[in-house]
Order: sequence, then C-alpha cells, then structure tokens
Amino acid sequence: MKILLFGKNGQVGWELQRSLAPLGELIALDARSESLCGDLTNLAGIANTIRTVAPDIIVNAAAHTAVDKAESEPDLADTLNTLAPEIMAKEAARLGAWLVHYSTDYVFDGSGKVAWRESDATGPLSTYGKSKLAGELAIIASGCRHLIFRTSWVYAARGGNFAKTMLKLAKERDSLKVINDQIGAPTGADLLADVTAHAIRTALLQPEVSGLYHLVAGGETSWHGYANFVIEFARKAGVEIKVPADAIAPVPTTAFPTPANRPLNSRLDTQKLQNTFNLYLPHWQSGVTRMLTEIL
Ligand SMILES: NC(=O)c1ccc[n+]([C@@H]2O[C@H](COP(=O)([O-])OP(=O)(O)OC[C@H]3O[C@@H](n4cnc5c(N)ncnc54)[C@H](OP(=O)(O)O)[C@@H]3O)[C@@H](O)[C@H]2O)c1
Repeated sequence: MKILLFGKNGQVGWELQRSLAPLGELIALDARSESLCGDLTNLAGIANTIRTVAPDIIVNAAAHTAVDKAESEPDLADTLNTLAPEIMAKEAARLGAWLVHYSTDYVFDGSGKVAWRESDATGPLSTYGKSKLAGELAIIASGCRHLIFRTSWVYAARGGNFAKTMLKLAKERDSLKVINDQIGAPTGADLLADVTAHAIRTALLQPEVSGLYHLVAGGETSWHGYANFVIEFARKAGVEIKVPADAIAPVPTTAFPTPANRPLNSRLDTQKLQNTFNLYLPHWQSGVTRMLTEIL
C-alpha cells in the first residue's frame, strides 16, 4: 500500500510521518521537496505528483494555518486551503484513492455553549475558516472516498505552541492576561496522527465510513484554564516561574483585538468518531502533561 503525505513537517505532518509509517510505503513531501512537487501553491504540480505516485491514500496535513495573516492574504489561503484540497480530491476520485484531510472548529460561528456536531450549520467568522470550509465542501463534492477530521487548538512538542509561549511569559513577567471566553480542547498532533492511522485501517475494510468527523481530545477548557494548567505544572516540576498564580488574569477576547475573529464556542462533539471507529479520546490534560514532560 502506498501513502502520499503532504505537509510532512507541520505539527500534524511530523507526527503522521511516525504513525503512518507502519501502514505501508510512505512518500512524505513538503513545499521544498525536489523530486516530486509538494508545494500546494503549484496546483498542476500537486496533480502531477499524485498521478506519478498513484497512492492508495493521500493525507493532506499542509494548510495555511496563520489565522490572522490569512485576513490580508485571502488568495493564498484560498489556494492552500480550498483549491489544493480540491485538486487532491479530484485526483483521488480518478484513482479510487482515499483522501485524508484536516479541518477546523473555525468553520463554526462560535455561538451557544453546546458542542458542535458534524451536522450543525457552519458560519465561519474568518478568511481562514471560510477557506477551510470551502476545502471541506470541495472534497465532499468530488465524490472521492475521504476522511475529514475537524480539530481544534493543536499543539505538539516540536515547534512553537501556546504552552511554550505561556511558559516563556510566566518566567519573564509579574502578571499575565489570558483569554477566558473562548472554550475548546487542546489537542495533541500525536493524538491526531494516531487516530488517523487507526481510522485509515478501519476505512480500508469499511469504505462506508467515508465522511466528516470531529476529532479533539476529551474535556474542555479556556485559554486561561490551559495557561494555568501549563504554568502550575511547570511550577510543580521545579521550573523557575516568576508570575504568581493569582496574577494570571482572565480577560475577554475583546481585550486582545486581532485581524481575524475567532469563535467563542469551539467545543466539538466527537461521539460520531468514537462510535464509528470504536476509539476513545483521552482528556486534554493527559496529552498536555505528556507534552510538558517532554519539553521541560
Ligand atoms: N494548529 C491548529 O491549532 C489547528 C486547529 C484546527 C485545525 N488545524 C488544521 O490541522 C491541519 C494541520 O495543522 P498544523 O497544526 O499541523 O499546522 P502547521 O504546523 O502550521 O503545519 C502546516 C504545514 O503546511 C505547510 N505549508 C504551508 N504552505 C505550504 C505550501 N505552499 N505547500 C506545502 N506545504 C505548505 C507548512 O510548511 P512551512 O512551515 O514550511 O510553511 C506546515 O508544515 C491543518 O489542516 C489545519 O488547518 C490546525
């Protein structure tokens, strides 16, 4: 079996290189790959790569993920998040291959307090969210067999992430302000990659599972709750933290104006994924604890 992975060096792509390796021959590309085109801005090049490799499974971990930057470069966001997945989907349909793709909680408008289901109406607030939603719709319209995983608040031990930023600030500052009215679930790239590998194995045996799934760690928190957890874990682990626990102030989203609007309610209901693939999604704190243990 041949698996073609785009975006091999992103948070999720890096973990996929590990989790997909035992499933078959893995051809992993990024924008700088030379022998085969892995640059999603080169749509003809991507189509050509898929035709040359003729994979059984295409996994797309590449995307325009800079949510604020996307507001000022909508064409690039559209190319990476909509047109490239559309090309992949059309080529997958032609080959009879599967396409695995990742999307986001930002396809929702963030209203209410109930976890979003896959069947709920979308209403993206940002260019990024709109481009990701259009990517989902293009894949579904292509008729290819697909697994689209909507996830949220992705972190990984490798590269920069929110937890590392909070730790750095907590070592330097006497006080911190962190948003407490956006609610979601920090989700490890390692969990996403492992679930992807399990889901692919099921999908190969049961093609009827083709579809859209919400995939996030268990539980929920705010960015403030997440920051507190990270900082207190580090303090207990003996890291020299300057900010006192009671000086980490909860603030509303409006305290930090950004170019892109973000949903307040980013809760995703994962029941469909858990039932379909017979999988259990561990609590976000267990994944974050593991990541912190690795980086501290
Ligand atoms: N991060 C989150 O919090 C989050 C939340 C919800 C959903 N998601 C979704 O999850 C998926 C994986 O995200 P992630 O967190 O792993 O993102 P990431 O770490 O930012 O990785 C994205 C990858 O895309 C690559 N890329 C950018 N432009 C490219 C191009 N022209 N051609 C080929 N590759 C290109 C980047 O490469 P360079 O670094 O070399 O530019 C990077 O390796 C994405 O679909 C994202 O929309 C992420």
